Amino acid sequence: TEDGETAVTAPELLLRVFRFLGPEDLCRCGQVCSVWDQVSKTGSLWRHLYPVRWARGDYYSGPPGESDQDPDEDWVKSLQDEGRAYQEWDEDADVDESEACEESPAISAVQREKRLLNGIVQNLLPAVGPSVRSLSLAYSSAVSSKMVRQILSLCPNLTHLDLTQTDVSDSAFDSWAEFGACRTLERLDLSGCDRITDRTLKILSLGLGDLTTSSPDRRAKLLRAPPSPINFQDECSLPPMGRSCHDLIFKRRPGGRGSGCGPAHVWALNPSKLADIEDAADWSKRGGVSVQEKGRGDSSCCCRRSRRRSFRTGVSSSPWQYGSMGEALCGHSTCCTSDFRTKCSFEGESCPEHPHNRTDQSGAYRALRFLSLSGCYQITDLGLRCLSQRGGLPLLVHLNLSGCLFITGAGLQELVTVCPSLNIEHFYYCDNINGPHADKASGCQNLQCGFRACCRSGE
Ligand code: FES
Repeated sequence: TEDGETAVTAPELLLRVFRFLGPEDLCRCGQVCSVWDQVSKTGSLWRHLYPVRWARGDYYSGPPGESDQDPDEDWVKSLQDEGRAYQEWDEDADVDESEACEESPAISAVQREKRLLNGIVQNLLPAVGPSVRSLSLAYSSAVSSKMVRQILSLCPNLTHLDLTQTDVSDSAFDSWAEFGACRTLERLDLSGCDRITDRTLKILSLGLGDLTTSSPDRRAKLLRAPPSPINFQDECSLPPMGRSCHDLIFKRRPGGRGSGCGPAHVWALNPSKLADIEDAADWSKRGGVSVQEKGRGDSSCCCRRSRRRSFRTGVSSSPWQYGSMGEALCGHSTCCTSDFRTKCSFEGESCPEHPHNRTDQSGAYRALRFLSLSGCYQITDLGLRCLSQRGGLPLLVHLNLSGCLFITGAGLQELVTVCPSLNIEHFYYCDNINGPHADKASGCQNLQCGFRACCRSGE
């Protein structure tokens, strides 16, 4: 305003209110009108996704809990019972769907979860995928490898992924099969995913990037200062509608537009404000800034590749419904500009906006801190060797290999030597293997589990 105060626009106000809402309410709001729909699909509202819980009426959407926190036993048991009931029902093609749902709350819960997952993949993630940081699909009976593959391609900046006790196979991770595709990943839980083989570890190692191309100084710096990609508590400060977000978030040197990734422009915003950047870019487009394909230059952005893979058939709708949303916004600042191309100053570090920047291998992070392969009995030393390559896992603290029957002490030793941060108390493997830190490491966790592989099952 003229007296220098910042004007708050209606959509900006809406977003502030929406921050108090849970996922279900946000989706309801998104069905009010097109403006509400756009605001409800602001990236910072969808950082953490828990579709399995949401499908059962628990609308928690905060950050994941403590890494080693076990889920409630009753909760897990009820999900497993539901899964079994659904599987039996699904195998019987003669059963009438509506009848079965009326009779069985378990089956209808899984069906609801399936619809929700489809809605999220088709309607929500094309808009907010790059903003998503954590995703839990633990104990899902409805998720498939294909669905996970779509989700991972739409969410390139994931830091937490929990697929505990799901039926996914190696193909679920195909979209990570390029350098740096999952370089922001810090926690991966594949406990009980018994279809996983060494191929997944090979893909994972590739996606985490390559530290060997970094200088020793740089590697030491990375170890000292692990990444903190997003401050989840950041307040969002949207630009007023109709005003270019670039005026707010970038400073440009005189001399006109940049070309390619030249050093002519610099990021002027604190990295902790990246939530604002994504929102601002979103809002810039929504406020009428022209986005022309020609001006966009290349089409290499991860989200643009993802869009081509997703379905588009109609108007937008709620993740709680089937449908699609037409031209989706990725939320990336650089994708939402018509004339702005810059070299990201995060290059060489952990830029959440360019995780697929394959031209810069020096900044590959291998930020994984937590890895659980408990019950993935098909894993062998070859898979562990893949993880050992490209600089190992310098930040790995927790490693669970309980129930991995085919690994050996030598394979473990090779991996452990490149995991300098490993906490021995959080290192689990088969009691019958005489591996590294045998006297101090924790033993197999699957001894009395009953539903995960263990060489001593039944004893
Ligand atoms: Fe050997 Fe569990 S896998 S004790």
